[in-house]
Amino acid sequence: MEAYLKENFDIPDMKRSSEARLMWRRAVGQLILSRRHRHRFRESSDLVTIDDLISSRSHRLPLEFLEHITKNFCEERILGRGGSGRVYKGVLDNGEMIAVKKVESMLGTTKECERAQKQFENEVNLLMRLKHPNIVHLLGYCYKTQDALLPHDGKYFFCWQIDSLLCLEFLPQSLDNHISDATSGLDWHTRYKIIEGISKGLQYLHEQSDVPTIHLDLKPANILLDANMVPKIADFGISRLFDQGQTIHTKTTNGTLGYMPPEFFRGIITPMSDIFSFGVIIMEVITGDRDYPYDLKDSSDEYTNTELGKWRNVLEKEPGHTNLETDCQQIKKCIQIGLMCVNPERKKRPTIRKITNILQGLESTVCYSSN
Ligand SMILES: Nc1ncnc2c1ncn2[C@@H]1O[C@H](COP(=O)(O)OP(=O)(O)O)[C@@H](O)[C@H]1O
Ligand SMILES: [Mg+2]
Repeated sequence: MEAYLKENFDIPDMKRSSEARLMWRRAVGQLILSRRHRHRFRESSDLVTIDDLISSRSHRLPLEFLEHITKNFCEERILGRGGSGRVYKGVLDNGEMIAVKKVESMLGTTKECERAQKQFENEVNLLMRLKHPNIVHLLGYCYKTQDALLPHDGKYFFCWQIDSLLCLEFLPQSLDNHISDATSGLDWHTRYKIIEGISKGLQYLHEQSDVPTIHLDLKPANILLDANMVPKIADFGISRLFDQGQTIHTKTTNGTLGYMPPEFFRGIITPMSDIFSFGVIIMEVITGDRDYPYDLKDSSDEYTNTELGKWRNVLEKEPGHTNLETDCQQIKKCIQIGLMCVNPERKKRPTIRKITNILQGLESTVCYSSN
């Protein structure tokens, strides 16, 4: 194989430099990938199904296959855009749909590309090990590097170009398109199902998976919904692994303003970062607004009563509504959980286990004032 690679990929002496070793690794990876998949995926007439993708053990997919199913990543196939790139609809030959997330292709020095490679590896590794009905399902990935000669400042420079792609189960909508106040949009039961689903996904992330994970960018645009409005947590681009009880100190504070807890700006990351973001999401799902009282001690009861009152008005007008008091109790419980989650003092926020217990009626909410 070494001779083949040297001949075909112009690889210099392996021991000469770390750059050469990196090139070697990439070339070997590409060769294995293309040999394995050439037969199975290259021809557009090959019938590939979602089941094939799920059962494929390596999850690696050739770029040509992804170009084929996304019509060369054309504009009309764009499902959404985010900070790291675009997400396209991929249509398999049997009509099944998948989502293809194309991380902005990167150009740069070997060092920069190595860092980008590490981040992508981290996300793929993480997603491959996460399996839960409320977490988006990874179907495959593609990672392709090539060198490019680019003009800059009147000179030409060699640099690496990286294409990184993730294939995910296709989900028709995201939660940010369903944020509205009580008078319009989703009914209470659907909203409750969404809050409950996110909490189960988050409990799996924090406590139950073999790779305890802090998501770090929970917000409605990163919560996808299936045809039955079951929520799935997506976008693990900046997620971090953690050991129980560990606090991560970081200088990089990525995330989305409005969903990040105060301590995040001091570089402190714990699972409580996600709990804060979840609290903001709960408020938004119930009220349609990201606002909540900043002075929780004095204003939380008033806030709870006002928002509950709005829902009571809506539910009373619903024809044939029979469970008014039960639903109001549920709404009140969710508002209280939301308020506990957005506590500026991270140690006073509830763990995700406590939240799911409260939702299931196994524990009661503790009023903010007694915290
Ligand atoms: N699996 C998917 N199915 C359908 N649409 C998706 C899927 N994943 C992402 N999208 C759409 O693309 C948008 C951006 O995706 P996301 O993973 O959040 O990317 P980024 O990391 O760039 O923020 C989402 O808000 C959603 O609209
Ligand atoms: Mg996103």
